[in-house]
Amino acid sequence: MKILVTGGTGYIGSHTCVELINNGYEVVIVDNLNNSSIDVIDKIQQITGIKPVFYQVDILEKDGLEKVFEENQLNAVIHFAGYKAVGESVAIPLTYYENNISGSINLYQLMKKHHVNNLVFSSSATVYGDDFDVPFKEEYGLGTTTNPYGTTKKMNEMIITDMCKADSDLSCVLLRYFNPIGAHESGLIGEIPNGIPNNLVPYIAQVVSGQREYLNVWGNDYNTPDGTGVRDYIHVVDLARAHVKAIEYALNHKGTEVINIGTGKGYSVMEVLKAYEKACGKEIPYRIMNRRPGDIAVCYADTEKAERLLGFKAEYDIDRMCEDSYRFTRMLDK
Ligand code: NAD
Ligand code: WQD
Repeated sequence: MKILVTGGTGYIGSHTCVELINNGYEVVIVDNLNNSSIDVIDKIQQITGIKPVFYQVDILEKDGLEKVFEENQLNAVIHFAGYKAVGESVAIPLTYYENNISGSINLYQLMKKHHVNNLVFSSSATVYGDDFDVPFKEEYGLGTTTNPYGTTKKMNEMIITDMCKADSDLSCVLLRYFNPIGAHESGLIGEIPNGIPNNLVPYIAQVVSGQREYLNVWGNDYNTPDGTGVRDYIHVVDLARAHVKAIEYALNHKGTEVINIGTGKGYSVMEVLKAYEKACGKEIPYRIMNRRPGDIAVCYADTEKAERLLGFKAEYDIDRMCEDSYRFTRMLDK
């Protein structure tokens, strides 16, 4: 079985390629290396013993992308490629709509033309917006997104759902990820943030490595046990394994399914900080700041559907997520 992985040298894509290869799939990666490095191909080979086929192609360039479909008999596509920075999407919305929507449409059109009927799409818990009570359930549908990035995820979900309604051969699994963190246990692949990290764990990692003085804790007056925001952090390797299950599901079913991928458990900012302190063995300085605009108090997944349809249940706890993140950060510093 040959799987096209767009964005396959990125953070979640690279871990997913490892799990696909470990499960006997052939992997073809398309990435323009906008937010990742070619070195990741060698790292995947070091971990798995197999070098994935790689095309440095921008999904906005349809001719280049079509060559990949012509040269490979593909069974399915996992579509990670896209921009993902919430704040940046507010500043340059058209760039986000072009890359995440036009790029995706190019891909979906080529899938149709070349009769590739199975798709797994990277959606996000951000599509629930601030409209619903936790735990977030798939049946809630799409909420009010608060930034262009989130809207591109919502629009992709709508486009894919319409495509599936129009074409009964299609099988599409829309995975709504919660907060992926951590890294591969080898320390060879992980998340390398571009500039100042927006996300909590990459920021903590930079405080620990001395690149930043202290963590800004965005608000401690939420209606949560310790007042700081609560999120459903999931180990990126667990998330990668969910993709293997989603591919198996797509290959054996038709139609669209929306599935949350989280642990179902929420941790506060202070709990994550404590877990990271345990992992690195030192105190991590922090300051309580005002709330960050657009943040919600609590976000965690209802995981029943992932368990029922995919047989997927996350294995790693917050301590392991922080240990693996710390190991990767130390390898980067070497
Ligand atoms: P990432 O930036 O590490 O990976 C995305 C990859 O896509 C990068 O390697 C980048 O170079 C590539 N890319 C971007 N635009 C491209 C284009 N036009 N053509 C070809 N390649 C292109 O991000 P990630 O964290 O691995 O996220 C993967 C997917 O999951 C994204 O769609 C993201 O929106 C989604 N997602 C991520 C999170 C998260 O917290 N990391 C949460 C929910 C959903
Ligand atoms: C987590 C918690 C912050 C940084 C974002 C996107 C979402 C998805 C995942 C792609 C919150 C607090 C953070 C810091 C802090 N990505 N925090 N200090 O906002 O839940 O989700 O990433 O789809 O779309 O919005 O993740 O890691 O930014 O924040 O106190 O320096 O940590 O306020 O409570 P978030 P995050």
